[in-house]
Amino acid sequence: MTKSNAKNDPFLRDLWYFGIVGSEIKPGQMVQKERLGELVLFGRTHDGEAFAMTDICPHRAILLSGGEMVKTETGTQVQCPYHGWRFHPDGQCANIPSLTADQSEGVDITKIKAKIFPVHESYGVIWIWFGYDSEAEPCLDPPVLDIPADSKVRMHDEGDFNCDMDAAVISLMDPAHIPYIHNQSWWRTPKTMHEKQKTFGPIERGFSMLPHKPSSNSFIYKLFGTGITTEIQLELPGLRPEYMKAGDKHVTTVTIVTPVNESKTIISIILYWNHPVVSFVPKWLIRQAVHIFMGQDSTAVDAQAIGMSYDPPQMFIHDSDIPAKWYLALRRNWETHRATGEPFVNPVKEPVTLRWRS
Ligand code: FES
Ligand SMILES: [Fe+2]
Repeated sequence: MTKSNAKNDPFLRDLWYFGIVGSEIKPGQMVQKERLGELVLFGRTHDGEAFAMTDICPHRAILLSGGEMVKTETGTQVQCPYHGWRFHPDGQCANIPSLTADQSEGVDITKIKAKIFPVHESYGVIWIWFGYDSEAEPCLDPPVLDIPADSKVRMHDEGDFNCDMDAAVISLMDPAHIPYIHNQSWWRTPKTMHEKQKTFGPIERGFSMLPHKPSSNSFIYKLFGTGITTEIQLELPGLRPEYMKAGDKHVTTVTIVTPVNESKTIISIILYWNHPVVSFVPKWLIRQAVHIFMGQDSTAVDAQAIGMSYDPPQMFIHDSDIPAKWYLALRRNWETHRATGEPFVNPVKEPVTLRWRS
C-alpha cells in the first residue's frame, strides 16, 4: 500500500504506535486518548480482548467514551450515550434502538461502521496501527523488544511535551544536552563532561548505539556491578529501548514518543527488569528520578517549541547532532518508501563511531 495523502500529513504512517499501557483498561472498560490527531476509544471486551475505534459516534458525533460497554450474549458492545446506537468491537453497528420494526427492514445496519484501528497487545502495551490507507491491514509486525513478550511492566510514567514528535525524538537522542538540561550532582554536570565515543549501527527502521560499557561518570550504572552493557536503539516511529544487561539479568527502559496531535507529544517511559538489585530500589525513588528527567526535558522542548514557532534555521553539528540527522533522514526515507514503493533506505549503512563531549 502506498502513501495516499502525502500532502500536509504531519504524521508518519504505516507504523505501529504506542496506544496505552494495557493495565490501564480492565475488561469491560474503555478510555479515550488522542493519537495522531484522532480521538481514539481504547476498550477491552469482557473477555479481555483489546480494541480501538474512533471515539466519535458515526451517527451524530457525540463521544462514545461517555457511553458504556454492554455485555451481551454475542459479546461486548459499545453503546453511544446519545441515542443508544451500539457497536461491536470491530466497529460494526449492532443496534439502532429508534428504528421501528418496519424501518429496521429498510436499513442495513451492517453497512454502518465506526472507524477502527488495528491493535496488538504485547509487553504490557496496546500498540495501535496507523496506516496511510485506514482500511488496509498492517503491513508490519508489531514492535519487537529484546525481552520476553510476556514481560511485566514494572513501572510506567508519562509526560506531555508541547512540541511536535520530531523535537521530542531528537531530544532523546541528543547526548550534548545531558550535562546542561539534566545537570544534577548525582548524575551529570558540565564539570563531569569528558570525551566519549560510541559506535552506532543500523537496525530495521532505525539505528542502535551498539552494546557498550556504560559511561564511567554515571553513578547509577555503578549499582549494577561489573559486566554490564548498555544498548540504546531508536526505531521509527519513536521507539527507544535502552537495554542494560548483565548476563541473563536486564533492566530495560522503553521510552516511546507518540504524537497526540501536531503540537503535542507524549513520552511514555516503561520499565521492565528481572535484575534483583533494582527490586530493592523503592519504586517511588525510581518514579521520582523519571519525573525529574522527564520534567527537565519537557521544560527544554517546550521552550524550544516557542523558538521554533518563529521558524528559525537550525544547525546540526558533528558529531553530537548526527543521531538527530539520522532520525530526520529515517523519517524522510520512510515517507519516500511508502509513497513510491521503493526499498526503504536506512541512512546508517554500517557501524560508525561518533565522538563528543558530554
Ligand atoms: S450520536 Fe451516537 S447514537 Fe446518536
Ligand atoms: Fe533529556
